[in-house]
Amino acid sequence: MANLLVTGAAGFIGANFVYYWLDTYPGDRVIGLDALTYAGNHESIRSAESNPAFRFVHGDIRDQALIEKLLREEKIDTIVHFAAESHVDRSISGPDAFIDTNIGGTHSMLKAARAVWLDGPEGRLPHRFHHVSTDEVYGTLGPNDPPFTESTPYAPNSPYSASKAASDHLVRAYHHTYGLEVTTSNCSNNYGPYQFPEKLIPLVLINILHGKALPIYGDGKQIRDWLYVDDHARGIDLIIKKGRLGETYNIGGHNEWTNIDIVNLICKLMDERFAADLQMKEKYPDAPAARGEKANSLITYVKDRPGHDQRYAIDAAKTTAELAYKPVESFETGIDKTISWYLDNEGWWQRILDGSYQEWIDQQYADRKAS
Ligand code: NAD
Ligand code: DAU
Repeated sequence: MANLLVTGAAGFIGANFVYYWLDTYPGDRVIGLDALTYAGNHESIRSAESNPAFRFVHGDIRDQALIEKLLREEKIDTIVHFAAESHVDRSISGPDAFIDTNIGGTHSMLKAARAVWLDGPEGRLPHRFHHVSTDEVYGTLGPNDPPFTESTPYAPNSPYSASKAASDHLVRAYHHTYGLEVTTSNCSNNYGPYQFPEKLIPLVLINILHGKALPIYGDGKQIRDWLYVDDHARGIDLIIKKGRLGETYNIGGHNEWTNIDIVNLICKLMDERFAADLQMKEKYPDAPAARGEKANSLITYVKDRPGHDQRYAIDAAKTTAELAYKPVESFETGIDKTISWYLDNEGWWQRILDGSYQEWIDQQYADRKAS
């Protein structure tokens, strides 16, 4: 039986990971920590709270004393560290929070882990610190470049990816210097339930329902490698159970799409949903389908993201060879499940939009359109 501390548990991947772990390992105890920033949503893990094996703690990873207290009181033996500022556009308009949380917060987690697991009164305790990172630390690829491997040199291009790269290096240093038992995963773009609607896929889904523009940055030819969020959780599980200490592992979906193609695909799938369920036209009267138009009529090219990485692609051969990792969700089933989840859980995203987020997103769009 393991006792996990999952940071960022009320965020997109953290929440999905909590559900995955509680389902997969019913004998384990999971403490979910989250500062509930704009991206954190207590509602996302409400159903986990009915499970006595789960406890939610509202707190900040930068609070080292709190982390040490949790590690001791809950006898934590495994940290899965998701908490971060995660949105590239926000890191461009306001990098400070990314430096504070992603670098300072990760360092505070490492200091707490060292104090309790390595230097506590009981001596060295059994432990694992798993750090969740991103493929963005490797920079950008040209159209014919081979995908990123674990030995691709780091070349982060945004304040977000630079802050994640710095946190990866700190995790590595705590292993080499102090012997902290760490593993790190670098994953490609995730999609699935509970993703905050500032990210491309949920933004496009919700904007279609409301008949709002679908903003395509630049020429829309940038490429991302999309992975269903539960496949990320499966990869992390394998790394925690079987990964070699001090190693990094890539997790990806072998599923490269240009942004414009993925937006066109979502438009087509949403048109099909409207055609199959006539009540949707009454429920969403501003959607193009309700006016007899196609969703892709909303596509609008806007100013590009500064320093926009052209292409990400993951080579997960090491993770596959060592840990038998393989994504189980096909893109067809994953995107279908995701659309169904957003349609079935309007309350979840509508409350986010009502909480003044719609104003923020409208302003972002206006700024990009104007320039
Ligand atoms: P998210 O923004 O949805 O969630 C982040 C969570 O961290 C939020 O709940 C937020 O409240 C919490 N948080 C932020 N600052 C905190 C602090 N100081 N203390 C405690 N909690 C804090 O992000 P996500 O998409 O779920 O990403 C989770 C992790 O996975 C991040 O480390 C990200 O870099 C990494 N990652 C994400 C993707 C992706 O496609 N989304 C891909 C690869 C890696
Ligand atoms: O690759 C992993 C990374 O994926 C994670 O580390 C990040 O936390 C996560 O946010 C994600 O980063 P991206 O920048 O790739 O995701 P985002 O959803 O913001 O954008 C995906 C692509 O779509 C990107 O090329 C920018 C483009 N885009 C995005 C938005 C929100 C648009 O063209 N229009 C938009 O409105």
